[in-house]
Amino acid sequence: MGSIDGKVAVITGAGSGIGRALAIALAGRGARVAISDVNEEGLFGTAERVNTVAREKAHVEVLDVSDQSAVNTYASSVAGHYGVVHQIYNNAGVAGGAVPVVDCDYETYERIIAINLWGVINGTKEFLPYLIESGDGHVINISSLNGLMGQASMTGYCTTKFAVRGFTESLRAEMLSLKKPVRVTLVHPGGIATNIASSALDEAERAGREITDHQRQRAEAYNKKLLKMSPMQAARIIVAGVEANRSRILVGKDAKGVDLLVRLLPRSHSRFVTWWEKRTFGGS
Ligand SMILES: NC(=O)c1ccc[n+]([C@@H]2O[C@H](COP(=O)([O-])OP(=O)(O)OC[C@H]3O[C@@H](n4cnc5c(N)ncnc54)[C@H](O)[C@@H]3O)[C@@H](O)[C@H]2O)c1
Repeated sequence: MGSIDGKVAVITGAGSGIGRALAIALAGRGARVAISDVNEEGLFGTAERVNTVAREKAHVEVLDVSDQSAVNTYASSVAGHYGVVHQIYNNAGVAGGAVPVVDCDYETYERIIAINLWGVINGTKEFLPYLIESGDGHVINISSLNGLMGQASMTGYCTTKFAVRGFTESLRAEMLSLKKPVRVTLVHPGGIATNIASSALDEAERAGREITDHQRQRAEAYNKKLLKMSPMQAARIIVAGVEANRSRILVGKDAKGVDLLVRLLPRSHSRFVTWWEKRTFGGS
């Protein structure tokens, strides 16, 4: 058994984008995958694709990662099904839309924190006993380029992605200090061509929030100019990093550039980011 082949890998938010691509890439490398998503239609679409490349049918379950007791039940279900769990990819996440702090309601903050941060904590905590028991565990948490650098109108998203970084780096230190057999990897993707920006607008519309022209322009700029790398390419980079046991994976030139920028200009990079945002998104 290699670091992927034959391993039981759990992927949350697998109904679309990076999660779907990870599920296909891992199954194609011989992993036995458990996939979940809150969106049933997307999830079953992924299951169909996974089952065409996998040696064994995927374990498929609808799951809301923000629901702690549901994640607890889900972890027992996956462990009961396979008898062992080696890896969890805490990937489910939302963008939350572009809203300045003064206009952002508490519900919006609560929702994004529930999914992007609690989702990662729930997935890690509920699966960790099984990963330790496997003797060869690996937690892979998906942060973002926005876990390295803050941006205007994205306080909710950046808060959660910086927090995922803090949680994951602390977990790694803890696994080392307690000598537990669990590796820990933090992933910072740059712009990946997924539904994330459009889903944020759809969600705001469903919640009856007003969407400004600037918010639409911004989502369009993300879709046309920034979310460039294919999800399959991103998944290949992540899987290669997991195989190489990297503690930190930067996905794309943009993520690498931002990492360098914040190191080179620790105090003044926000001015550069503000200039770049005006140029890219226009408006206020
Ligand atoms: N696309 C990018 O450019 C980019 C960049 C950096 C980080 N990321 C991160 O990558 C991860 C995947 O995003 P993506 O770009 O593939 O987006 P996506 O919208 O294509 O996929 C996200 C999936 O998460 C699911 N999801 C949302 N809320 C959920 C919940 N409560 N429980 C379970 N599933 C839920 C959605 O239904 C969807 O299938 C996210 O954590 C995102 O923040 C994405």
